[in-house]
Amino acid sequence: DYEGEAIKRAPVVTVMGHVDHGKTSLLDYIRTTRVAAGESGGITQHIGAYHVETDHGMVSFLDTPGHAAFTAMRARGAQATDIVILVCAADDGVMPQTIEAIQHSRAAGVPIVVAITKIDKPSADIDKVKNELVAQEVVPEEWGGDVQFVGVSAKSGEGIDELLEAVLLQAEVLELTAVPSAPAKGVVVEARLDRGRGSVATVLVQNGTLKKGDIVLAGLQMGRVRALLDENGKSVKSAGPSIPVEILGLDGTPDAGEEFIVVADERKAREVANFRQGKYREVRFARQHS
Ligand code: GTP
Ligand code: NA
Ligand code: MG
Repeated sequence: DYEGEAIKRAPVVTVMGHVDHGKTSLLDYIRTTRVAAGESGGITQHIGAYHVETDHGMVSFLDTPGHAAFTAMRARGAQATDIVILVCAADDGVMPQTIEAIQHSRAAGVPIVVAITKIDKPSADIDKVKNELVAQEVVPEEWGGDVQFVGVSAKSGEGIDELLEAVLLQAEVLELTAVPSAPAKGVVVEARLDRGRGSVATVLVQNGTLKKGDIVLAGLQMGRVRALLDENGKSVKSAGPSIPVEILGLDGTPDAGEEFIVVADERKAREVANFRQGKYREVRFARQHS
């Protein structure tokens, strides 16, 4: 119901696939970082949110864990996104969480671009991976299907440019737009309580522009945005459509996957948050005593 000029926005791309198939390494290559090397046990345990300026245009990425324990995070990752990069290792092929990722993408109605990773390995067998994905009804364009497949290596960088091109081509088809002048709304990617800074929530702005001083209602929580930090911890004044950002200032930690909106009236926001918290306690009490 907000009137304002719509502009093209960057695609939000969630990277999903089986554990250790190379999701974080792929993003590290794109971002020229070394996140995977610093992970405990080499396992991603949270959703990383990054905003990247590529040679082909802006892209926001959500990195998800492949470990079997993190099904809910993968489901949320698929829901918050425009495109899924389905990562499948050329030396390992389709595995249980590959299939799970396909199911989440379909449930969310999100198009898939396949990245066959680790093609530098001597044991890589790209045709075998393609056949296994066809068995899951993910059919490459070159075999008459409608899914772009790209072979990549996070070691040599081979294919990564082509993958970004494929993603941005898919984004063009989706004609993604947003209204930057609207009050911000979006989704909570994750939130935690920090000793010094209080509630730290990573949010993805889906429409509008989130600014310092905005009053945010997010699930059961509300608060005035005290600071916005980009993915490198640098303070920024605002975050527009498709941009992931950390916000400080919420009263508590909203659940990942909750929607957030910016509202004009602080008192109203507090009323709604209090009402939701009351409802939440009622439901929990009823569950405990049934
Ligand atoms: P989870 O997030 O824990 O599911 O893992 P992931 O999919 O993010 O995989 P990660 O990037 O942690 O990589 C797993 C292992 O595969 C690491 O030892 C990487 O160095 C290796 N690896 C990733 N990509 C490539 C690649 O393109 N080629 C080769 N040879 N090894 C790779
Ligand atoms: Na890993
Ligand atoms: Mg990872």
